[in-house]
Amino acid sequence: MQIFIDTGSLEEIKEAATFGIVDGVTTNPSLIAKTGKSRDEIINEIVKIIDGPISAEVISTDSQGMIEEGKMLSKIHKNVTIKVPMTIEGIKACKWFSDNKIKTNVTLVFSSNQALLAAKAGATYVSPFIGRLDDIGHDGMNLIEEIRQVFDNYAFPTQILAASIRHPDHVRVASMLGADVATIPFDVLKKLYNHVLTDKGVEAFLKDYKKSIS
Ligand code: E4P
Repeated sequence: MQIFIDTGSLEEIKEAATFGIVDGVTTNPSLIAKTGKSRDEIINEIVKIIDGPISAEVISTDSQGMIEEGKMLSKIHKNVTIKVPMTIEGIKACKWFSDNKIKTNVTLVFSSNQALLAAKAGATYVSPFIGRLDDIGHDGMNLIEEIRQVFDNYAFPTQILAASIRHPDHVRVASMLGADVATIPFDVLKKLYNHVLTDKGVEAFLKDYKKSIS
């Protein structure tokens, strides 16, 4: 499974890049807004830090506007993936990008029917939002399972990008269910490294070794 970091923060991206396990980055307008900089400024910086897919989201609501924005964004760097919303207009734009060999990420996916439509339009990635489904009392993981089955049934090459991840268990289950990518907030990414027995074990090993040489 590929690991993307879900943030607009250049500091977080720089630190995560040193970990050696980050394959790409996803941003969205809310994450970009937190940085106080423009989307294009941030994307221009991210492509210098991570050599992998970088999702940049359009803000137009009509397909023609999305196409124009996407054309500009894709000129920033070959790694820029155009993120479009799961709407009729977004899917029209997705088809245009796919026909023109521009990579896409269809975002705000909450049902396997939506994922099916995105895959039919040639999306490179679909982003099911697990956490937001959990928030309203649904089971986000069921959606990952359903989409995996649909894509496998018809051999769609579209990749499942598990998004809206809130905690390490989302990553664990997404990987078991065959999500191709998980996009993970920085604080959750760091938590993936932790286990209480690892900490205890490291402490005990160091203590024993120091005793032996003193
Ligand atoms: C994905 O690409 C989105 O940026 C993100 O995962 C949304 O997560 P949220 O529900 O925590 O805002």
